[in-house]
Amino acid sequence: MGRNKPIRWAELETFDRVIQPQFKDFYFNDHPIKGNWNKQLFQNENPIVLELGCGRGEYTVSLASKFPELNFIGIDIKGARLWRGAKTANEKKFLNAAFLRTRIEIIRSFFADNEVDEIWITFPDPQTKNRRNKKRLTGPIFLNFYRTFLKTNGIIHLKTDNYDLYKDTLDLVKDNGLEIISSTTDLYSGVEINGVDNELLSIKTHYENQFLEKGMKINYLSFRLDKAIKSENGYQESGQ
Ligand SMILES: C[S@@+](CC[C@H](N)C(=O)[O-])C[C@H]1O[C@@H](n2cnc3c(N)ncnc32)[C@H](O)[C@@H]1O
Repeated sequence: MGRNKPIRWAELETFDRVIQPQFKDFYFNDHPIKGNWNKQLFQNENPIVLELGCGRGEYTVSLASKFPELNFIGIDIKGARLWRGAKTANEKKFLNAAFLRTRIEIIRSFFADNEVDEIWITFPDPQTKNRRNKKRLTGPIFLNFYRTFLKTNGIIHLKTDNYDLYKDTLDLVKDNGLEIISSTTDLYSGVEINGVDNELLSIKTHYENQFLEKGMKINYLSFRLDKAIKSENGYQESGQ
């Protein structure tokens, strides 16, 4: 275990805008923050944007700085990583940035119907061994989770170094008849990305910088998610 981890975990407990739920808080009932993020935590009525698998929370912190009229929540299971973003947000007194330490598999315990306006999924673990992998954050099972709390036609952004993850997600989006806003296999090629503010796309995460240093291309996809829950095998593979 890294020497700093216990220190960071302890410091996380001291931050006002970090929620580290206990098992008992959500196992039998939903967590008390569900449906109450704005009322209890942000104390305003502003739209809520999530960053899933946020790691050090670069998107959460940068977006919170750029858009004070929106609320941002970074979510990750790894406390020592999430600490970085939470510490910066705390030091800079960003009242519109919060962090939730949890597994995204149980995200429905923390957000109510229509509570979220937009989702960023930044460099998720690609889980490419099996396209139907149940752990994939852009797979059919997770899209169904997001449908339960994302507003109708709310936007999902995916940034990834992994072409297979990008392509499988794009295919799933098409198979589900969802509206694609932007789609590219080379985000920094210099070609204008339609429909999305370039300032948003230029934020770079920790993993992204590592991939760029290796000369890898960054794939980006944004689309609107409907409310119609699909089967767990949401893919209709071509030829079937
Ligand atoms: C490859 S890292 C990317 C981190 C960050 N977004 C970046 O771009 O630097 C993937 C992150 O997703 C988190 N993660 C993966 N699966 C998760 C899950 N099911 N629930 C919560 N966090 C998860 C990991 O802990 C890790 O921090």
